[in-house]
Amino acid sequence: MAYTVPDFHNPTGLLMPDGDRAALVDAARRADAFLVADETFADLGHDTGAPRVPPLAAHDRGGRVISVGSASKLMWGGLRIGWIRTTAPLARRLVLAREPFDMASPVLEQLIVRELLASVDDVREQRARELTRSRDALAGALREHLPGWEFRVPEGGLSLWARMPAPVATRLAETAERHGVRVVPGPAFGADGVLEDYVRLSFVLPPEALRTAAERLAGAHREVEAAPAARPLPAYV
Ligand SMILES: Cc1ncc(COP(=O)(O)O)c(C=O)c1O
Repeated sequence: MAYTVPDFHNPTGLLMPDGDRAALVDAARRADAFLVADETFADLGHDTGAPRVPPLAAHDRGGRVISVGSASKLMWGGLRIGWIRTTAPLARRLVLAREPFDMASPVLEQLIVRELLASVDDVREQRARELTRSRDALAGALREHLPGWEFRVPEGGLSLWARMPAPVATRLAETAERHGVRVVPGPAFGADGVLEDYVRLSFVLPPEALRTAAERLAGAHREVEAAPAARPLPAYV
């Protein structure tokens, strides 16, 4: 089984092009593997007017792609209702496999999601407007306060994946916390301590808060650059 986030991947924000989706489903067919497509971010496209890429499952003919998603990113963080779209036989097996653990998802939350799904286009539009404003505010503040950092402005999702000039992500995250800003260092997203020069910056807060956060982050980065590392980074062999 392979787990994938084809739509506005967390943390990079990348959108998998349609040709790659077709090739991935074909590779899974040849390897006789299942593909889980996590579509939690699929409805979080920004205001770019770009056409939406068809889902991974659009290339599937044999029940090989299992699509999953959640209301918690499109609607709000505490609304943890998810869904699975698969063939009827596998759906039945999954329902039975879940019963011994917690029977079912909370009914009140399910009813709230059902109500919101009736106006999902409005929800999507409102979210896109807010996210676009916040994303642009963060990108602008980073260019101003941290001009040495490199990043692509994503077309969807909730985060910006920034590359720093030196591999100091773990120390930066610790220092930033003392400055009142929480960021996730790159190694949290990789195996064996890689991605030390990357940091995930999410932009779910309003523009003003993000501008303040970028200023504080720049202060934390200066502090890290000024202090030499207490011990050399471990080498991986
Ligand atoms: C790719 C992806 N899928 C799913 C989730 C979690 O969804 P939920 O809050 O419904 O557990 C997250 C949370 O960050 C995520 O990044």
